Amino acid sequence: MRGLICQLRFSQSLIFINFTSLISKETIQQIQNRIDIIDIIGGFVKLKKRGTNYLGNCPFHNEKTPSFTVSPSKEIFKCFGCGKSGNSINFLMEHEKYSYVEALRWLAAKYNVEIEETATSPEFKALQLTSDSLYIINNFARDFFANALLHTEEGTDIALSYLKERGFNQETIQKFQLGYNPSARDEFTQAAIASQYSTELLLKTGLVVNRDEKFADNYRGRIIFPIHNMSGKIQGFGARIIKSNDRAPKYINTPENEIYVKSKILYGSYFARTAIDKADECLLVEGYTDVISLHQAGIENVVASGGTSLTPDQLRLIKKYTKNLTIIYDGDGAGIKAALRGLDLALEEGLEVKLVLIPDKEDPDSYVNKIGAKAFTEFVKKEKKDFILFQLEISLQEAGNDTAKKSAVVNQIADTISRIHKTEDFTKRQDYVKRVAEILKIEETGLNALVNKIIRDKLTREEARAINIETPPVEEMPPQDELTLLLNKDEMQEQALVKSLLDFGMKEWDEEQKVADFIFSQFDDLELQGMIDNQQLVHLILTYRQWYEDGNEPSAKDFLYHENTEVSATATKLMVDSESELSQNWKKFYEGHISTREERYKEEVTSTLNYLQLRKIKRLIAENQMEFEKTTDPEQQMICMQTHQLLKKMEAEVTRQMGTVIYK
Ligand code: GTP
Ligand code: MN
Repeated sequence: MRGLICQLRFSQSLIFINFTSLISKETIQQIQNRIDIIDIIGGFVKLKKRGTNYLGNCPFHNEKTPSFTVSPSKEIFKCFGCGKSGNSINFLMEHEKYSYVEALRWLAAKYNVEIEETATSPEFKALQLTSDSLYIINNFARDFFANALLHTEEGTDIALSYLKERGFNQETIQKFQLGYNPSARDEFTQAAIASQYSTELLLKTGLVVNRDEKFADNYRGRIIFPIHNMSGKIQGFGARIIKSNDRAPKYINTPENEIYVKSKILYGSYFARTAIDKADECLLVEGYTDVISLHQAGIENVVASGGTSLTPDQLRLIKKYTKNLTIIYDGDGAGIKAALRGLDLALEEGLEVKLVLIPDKEDPDSYVNKIGAKAFTEFVKKEKKDFILFQLEISLQEAGNDTAKKSAVVNQIADTISRIHKTEDFTKRQDYVKRVAEILKIEETGLNALVNKIIRDKLTREEARAINIETPPVEEMPPQDELTLLLNKDEMQEQALVKSLLDFGMKEWDEEQKVADFIFSQFDDLELQGMIDNQQLVHLILTYRQWYEDGNEPSAKDFLYHENTEVSATATKLMVDSESELSQNWKKFYEGHISTREERYKEEVTSTLNYLQLRKIKRLIAENQMEFEKTTDPEQQMICMQTHQLLKKMEAEVTRQMGTVIYK
């Protein structure tokens, strides 16, 4: 059997990011040994013992009856209400918004483990080095541009006067560190090169471009808006043209580089963070100048998205500080559309979203300058609309009397409401159902049923997707339910194999070998690729094998807290899933024969391997069939037929084994 499967032509390839944490393996091991999940989560959630597990109110969504379960033996938590699950580190990352390394540091402090930093990988070092250099160049540039704005004739004449004319005062200009890039070809470039900055890095910052084989300033004659990260370091710049010009874009922004990742940028967040915290509200506007003008007017809890729709990263950034997001956009079509696109995501993130539309032809900058800070604040307070109901209003207006359009509106709004389920409480959703039903003049129960159906369908789809992240979408999609079933069945078997390896790998298989030895003897790397579709599981198996070959005795726990977050996430998912679906599946598989997994681990391994091998044979048969149909060469047809017979024989053999092999 092994020989033939060697010939498989599965062409998946593996790409793994070399992830190196700054904390040594030994330190991680020490922390891992001391982790007491009840102690850790118990510090944030009131837990009560229920049988072998602990139960509490889920901290990730509002609930009245507890469905948040913590298993001390498996060292995982799972909420049966919102579906969140993970290990202690995931909990800290989610609950405290820590990064992986921050969570480790927190645990180390808690358990008095001294942290040993490791030498980092060359890739990581290079990345650090580049990032540091980019920050340094950006600092240099900020100073250069500020000086040009405030202390050169061209700057004061052209740029400073423009800013003053727009109403920005000296204090504001300095606070936001605004600047000016002179209009000469390469004044900044020359200064930067004279200061020994490498042209390669200068190009990376986007401040310098290569024009006709010569380095030149990219933002010539533009006002410069430095963009600060949360700790005040400069990630990049926005550069605004002074006189409007049809041929040149109004703004140019820093290109993506190691420190400027557009999807994570919220302009003004550094200046707004304490005010957001204090007000427990974040105002979101479109542009740099909107942020700056509102600040100057004393409204400081404001950030800008840069005119595009909100990304998940931006929303998460906001959520770190507040749940209350108020979007203040221009009344024009584009602004509203951009805002609406962010809505569904914001709801899923559990944010309370409100919307304020600024009157026609104005934006927050011009409007606050027109009516003053006090009137503006009152305007926002008065005009703040519930986002969901606002969306409904707009769509209803658009639909008019068209019944088809109206029913599309119902579906759309039901979909929007369904997104509340993840993080918000049930009563809030019910409240929307009631209000929306009233507005639409439809039965509340009908709308409720529709919302529930959407939630159910979505959950099924999400599960299917979650377990098969790596595989590209199938070209012709079978009906959704069937697809889910299909994916689940195969995925479950793949999971079962890895689960057996993690749980029983170090148990005895026979006198000569352990379970892990037996499993690894069944395939080599290439065959593994053909046998397991889920690349994360393949990665986990290979990690296990490497570790084992290095002389360790891997256990499930080692993977649960593995330093590679991808590995630990996969392991955690395995543990969580096996709690429910997997075990039920096995029960069904063995109809009535109820014994613990420990008692029948050999059975489990054999059955799973057989299933996966059978699946592979079936795929080969199909492939061979296709080849047979394609070819016109009689010799080739002959080979195909022989192959077919051989494969069929193998199929029969494996099927027979599956029916008969029973270990004690
Ligand atoms: P002013 O016109 O000076 O008041 O600027 P604004 O911030 O009000 O600009 P606007 O409302 O036109 O655009 C909002 C935001 O979208 C800006 O702050 C920029 O971040 C972005 N933006 C606008 N125009 C462009 C452009 O031409 N290119 C790029 N990349 N971004 C732009
Ligand atoms: Mn504007």
